[in-house]
Amino acid sequence: MADLMYKAEIQGVIRDVYSRVQVEGRPDRLMCAYSDQELASLPEQAVSWSFGTGHPVAHARLQPGEVVVDLGSGGGIDAILAARRVGSEGHVVGIDLLPDMAERATQNAAAAGVHNTEFRVGEIEAIPLPDDSADVVLSNGVVSLSARKARVFAEARRVLKAGGRLCLSDMTLEEEQLPSEILVHPAAWAG
Ligand SMILES: C[S@@+](CC[C@H](N)C(=O)[O-])C[C@H]1O[C@@H](n2cnc3c(N)ncnc32)[C@H](O)[C@@H]1O
Repeated sequence: MADLMYKAEIQGVIRDVYSRVQVEGRPDRLMCAYSDQELASLPEQAVSWSFGTGHPVAHARLQPGEVVVDLGSGGGIDAILAARRVGSEGHVVGIDLLPDMAERATQNAAAAGVHNTEFRVGEIEAIPLPDDSADVVLSNGVVSLSARKARVFAEARRVLKAGGRLCLSDMTLEEEQLPSEILVHPAAWAG
């Protein structure tokens, strides 16, 4: 029970921060991840609403026709790039906690001319998809935000077909444990 309350508290912080975030222009942090050509091919809103830590799509070896799930799809940048790689026979499902974010990603995918994506509101700790339904699970800068990381990995395993792939970009911890003042700091969890 204490663990569930802890999760709810952290998720409340994440909801609060990501529903209030404002963006303006192109973030510098993207320059080392996506190529200039990719950035130029995307709607400005998809680029400015990008908050990932890297470029998992570039490493996922996506094939035409594959079904891809993007955990914490945000403004949709990776889902759009993945959708282009899997082509019209493939499909990409983005999952995000926030209805506004799912709506934004839907608009960005339409502006990008991509028609094989859908964005669902849901938690990556309880992915709203059936067992054995995806070839690839992607995520960019989101697993680190979850208080239930083992649960996220179990869910990714559940929705992946046999032989499916998991491709993540995220922050990792080199210390054994973060200092307690960081672990209880809302901005640190959200950032
Ligand atoms: C750091 S942003 C990354 C967004 C996107 N992957 C990108 O690269 O731009 C985190 C996103 O994950 C969503 N998110 C955070 N925790 C989540 C959870 N437990 N379940 C689903 N989505 C979550 C947030 O609403 C936000 O849109």
